Amino acid sequence: MRALVFGALLLIPSLARAAEPLLEVAAGGETRSYTREELLKRPDAATIEVAKDIAYGGPMTYRAVPVAALLSGLTFPAGSVIEAVAIDGFAAQIPLDLLRNTDASKAIAWVAIEPEDQPWPKIAGKDYTAGPLYVVWTGPEVASIRSEYWAYQLAKFESQLSPAARWPGLAVDPSLPDDDPVRAGQTLYIAQCLPCHKLNGGGASVVGPDLNLPMNPTQYMTPEGLHALIRDPKSVRSWPGMKMNGLPPDLLSDREIDLIVGYLKHMAGRKQAPPQ
Ligand code: HEC
Repeated sequence: MRALVFGALLLIPSLARAAEPLLEVAAGGETRSYTREELLKRPDAATIEVAKDIAYGGPMTYRAVPVAALLSGLTFPAGSVIEAVAIDGFAAQIPLDLLRNTDASKAIAWVAIEPEDQPWPKIAGKDYTAGPLYVVWTGPEVASIRSEYWAYQLAKFESQLSPAARWPGLAVDPSLPDDDPVRAGQTLYIAQCLPCHKLNGGGASVVGPDLNLPMNPTQYMTPEGLHALIRDPKSVRSWPGMKMNGLPPDLLSDREIDLIVGYLKHMAGRKQAPPQ
């Protein structure tokens, strides 16, 4: 009897957890929310093979729902992006067209769902998995998808103004020509660094420090040290709680690191007070 009562009590928290929404999708004043079960039971849920998974570094198989379907029927203000917010406050600004693509000759975005009874492996060097929800990509053009668009521990998709419109503090000198490498560096910064690092107070995340205020790393690190840190932070200094991941050259080339450092250097001369 006692054991039975105990068992019944133990069941309650897990039931409550199962019914909790894991994902919010917000755009144009409308918010949809989904529990794990609701996602798994959708008719468009599929088993997908990911050849080269970014969080796990190898092939993975997932139950997943196409992101395009989760966004369908919502209205998006012109020029908006989708902010993919993770449980820890990581916030990637992903181009809407990439997430809404359904052309199988390009890259397709999915929300992979970690089964409650069969957890995924832990991410190397971390004490957690990529779940419960993880943005993964398939298709022949998957290599063109930036590593930070593989948002793990996803909690929310929300339409937002483009980063340039939302955070004027990210802007480069407007007199720079369109093909100036500093502009390419800004684009890379927004894709690869802004998900964790604000700049001039612009950005949605406080996972890492602001990279221009009060000082910019180009002002206190050597060029070689900064390059090495972006490639592999552990090669510069290492402690158990560190969060920034290194990226191999196939995900971020040396040339791309130089472009990002070029943008940081340029922005060191354009400090401005963070938005209130
Ligand atoms: C997943 C989140 C994340 C991403 C993405 C990320 N960083 Fe970091 N970064 C951090 C965190 C957190 C720290 C603080 C140290 C730590 O915990 O690793 C940090 C530390 C740093 C530092 C050292 C700052 C200091 O003074 O100690 C620099 C420089 C830096 N990051 C640059 C970058 C650049 C450039 C990019 C883009 C290529 C980038 N980071 C992408 C999370 C991130």
